[in-house]
Amino acid sequence: MAMCGIIGYVGWRRSAQVLMEGLERLEYRGYDSAGLAWFEGDRVQRVRAVGNLASLRTALHDKRRLSSAALAERRLAGNPTGGATATLERQLGIGHTRWATHGAVTERNAHPHVDARGRVWIVLNGIIENHLELRARLARRGIACDSETDAEVVAQMLGLMYTGDLAQTVAETMHLFQGQYALVAMASEEPDLLVAVRQGAPLTIGIGQGEQFIASSIAAFLPHTREVAVPQDGEIAVLRADEVVLLDAAGEAHPPSVTSAGWDPERIEKDGYETFMLKEIHEQGAAVRATVQSAMAQIQDAARTVLSTQRIAALERVIVVACGTSYHAGLAGKLALERWARVPVEVDVASEFRYRDPILNQNTLVVAITQSGETADTLAAMRLARAHGAPVLVITNAPGSQATRDADGVLFTQAGIEMGVAATKTFVAQVAMLYMVALQVATVRRRLPSEMVGWLAEELQSLGDRIDELIATVDEPVATLARDLAGSQFFLYLGRLTGLPVALEGALKLKEISYVPTDAYAAGEMKHGPIALLSPQTPVICVATEVNVLPKLLANMAEVKARHAQVLAVAAEGFTEVNEYADHVVYVPRTDPLLEVLLAIVPLQLFAYHLARARSLSVDQPRNLAKTVTVE
Ligand code: F6R
Repeated sequence: MAMCGIIGYVGWRRSAQVLMEGLERLEYRGYDSAGLAWFEGDRVQRVRAVGNLASLRTALHDKRRLSSAALAERRLAGNPTGGATATLERQLGIGHTRWATHGAVTERNAHPHVDARGRVWIVLNGIIENHLELRARLARRGIACDSETDAEVVAQMLGLMYTGDLAQTVAETMHLFQGQYALVAMASEEPDLLVAVRQGAPLTIGIGQGEQFIASSIAAFLPHTREVAVPQDGEIAVLRADEVVLLDAAGEAHPPSVTSAGWDPERIEKDGYETFMLKEIHEQGAAVRATVQSAMAQIQDAARTVLSTQRIAALERVIVVACGTSYHAGLAGKLALERWARVPVEVDVASEFRYRDPILNQNTLVVAITQSGETADTLAAMRLARAHGAPVLVITNAPGSQATRDADGVLFTQAGIEMGVAATKTFVAQVAMLYMVALQVATVRRRLPSEMVGWLAEELQSLGDRIDELIATVDEPVATLARDLAGSQFFLYLGRLTGLPVALEGALKLKEISYVPTDAYAAGEMKHGPIALLSPQTPVICVATEVNVLPKLLANMAEVKARHAQVLAVAAEGFTEVNEYADHVVYVPRTDPLLEVLLAIVPLQLFAYHLARARSLSVDQPRNLAKTVTVE
């Protein structure tokens, strides 16, 4: 697993500053070292640092101090400009946050990398699979790499092939690089341009006035421009301050097709919240409202393709593929499609699905769920499904992402950009969209009375407001509970039916951001193993949202109590019996049990959040995790 952020800038602002700020906005993707290279006069300067961006800022500051001292010396020696007459015109550079894959976390392995002759500089996101072979090839030419990274191999290879025309060199050399990657390059001899290419990894161009940006995510440059263009895989992007050109495989140049990103710059700021994650938890009501509101029109659009009446009528099976939190959303979607539309549904983690030789045909609808639209395993699962003739519908939060290009139909969740690494508002938006799809399938297949469809649709529409109210009432008591339990070593989560995806997602949130071990089980499974873990020191969190299985869950809670473990419960309003078995209960408004998934998850997100904060952890960028996982 790996993740990096890359950025390039050409224009009129101080490039080192623009790059540094851009990297700060890419921080959420996770990283363990970072670096910048930029033109200062005729020279390329580079700083790299292990650790967070504060270390890189310090390195940048030291470098600047040194270079102004050198300039002063040159002035004293009678060269007033210090030889740097062009400083103001040449604002160009590249930057990188690195997530170690090949080679340890060291300054030497941090990007940008440069070839042995100091001519070609690059930053790279992704993995070059044949880097060992290329490294051997370079060694035969007498070129030894300075670092252990696959990225340096690319820099060296480009340096070796460099003709004095960087765009041409990249075009002629890229067939050597196998894998999924995106790179941005610059050359010491061509101080007015950046050259970039992507092959299965994200890369977006930001078009400004007399300046251009390129980065792994729009977030990196959103305060400067919202005009964006996404190069196709294999297209070479050439960025100059006043122009962007794309070169296709035949070497034909054409202008990029520019669209306007809908995300407001201010929405990616924290709006007064202490962290992005807390802000995003509070935005969940709005995310559900916007998603439900836009769903019908989007589903009507998809009715021309993957969700046509004929296809829905002929449906034999749905397979949901996703990873992590999106997989948990898929589990809730399965229950809705089966209960409401009576279509058999399988849910699989994409990394398993892609290798298990699944049975697919044209009457199997594959629904891929991915907030980023760039998750490598999910993209591979989608490709596999299509290769076997199954239509693919993707549910994503990211316009322009790879998944939107690879699917037969797309439904966009309307959560807005999510900066916290731990998914929150994108989860509830995914579940809401899946429910809208399930209602459509149920309607077309006439599996639910229309009054029931109407009632569920109305309930879904009002759910955003109920989430807002719920957050306002439970935040404080949940925070107190989390602080009280912040010293616990392990948490067990239990749920049944609709309570299970909630338990799984709640447990994932807690382990991701607080690093406290958790496990989550279907409550009926407890006596088949996990009960062995219980002791008076084990808090057990039970999700009680299904009236049919409530007596069963209460029996499970009694078993937990008999082991003197502490029971915490999230229950639907009116399930007062839960009080008898639980030490603490958080009630959520009662509605259809499927819809309660969107409510019951809220206290568990808040619990994870406050517990991690009580442990003084950085919730927005938990260790080892990345927001977008673009490699397998
Ligand atoms: C959890 C989390 C991850 C992602 C997973 C899939 O908080 O963020 O588990 O859900 O990596 O990501 P997407 O949805 O982008 O495919």
